[in-house]
Amino acid sequence: MRKPQAATSHSPYYIATVLVLTIAVGPAFAASLKSIMGDMRDNTTSAKAVLANFDSASAKQIMQRYASEAQAASDMFAGQGGAKEKDLSSRFKQLAAMADATSQAPLNKASFRKAFAEVASECKSCHSAYK
Ligand code: HEC
Repeated sequence: MRKPQAATSHSPYYIATVLVLTIAVGPAFAASLKSIMGDMRDNTTSAKAVLANFDSASAKQIMQRYASEAQAASDMFAGQGGAKEKDLSSRFKQLAAMADATSQAPLNKASFRKAFAEVASECKSCHSAYK
């Protein structure tokens, strides 16, 4: 009877170990930001292709993808103490909200071009502050 109980009692330690590892892996945030940025760059390449050859379904998808990438980046920095992290989180959150709202509105080539220019200016302004 004792053995199975002992095995079960390991599970809180296991959970604690996973938590400690999750926290210790903090520097990996930088690597994930890079990967989200790589996705944003790829999505920007797609956006340019859609501008050259417009269709509203692809335009909507691109804005949805910016929104989810930006939301993921915002979540990554949320709840972290530093001023830089707070600002990054709020900038990404704002970008996510803008891209999400755009994706839900009807898009034509002109409105997509305008929204894309706004997204690109968010990329630029954050990069000039933090990159
Ligand atoms: C809120 C801030 C912020 C916004 C908005 C932002 N970026 Fe970045 N970006 C960064 C930071 C910070 C880095 C540097 C990351 C690093 O080196 O760890 C970076 C790096 C990059 C890189 C280089 C990645 C690498 O492999 O070194 C690319 C490409 C990039 N961003 C593309 C974009 C595009 C495209 C957009 C807009 C659609 C965008 N970013 C919006 C903060 C931002």
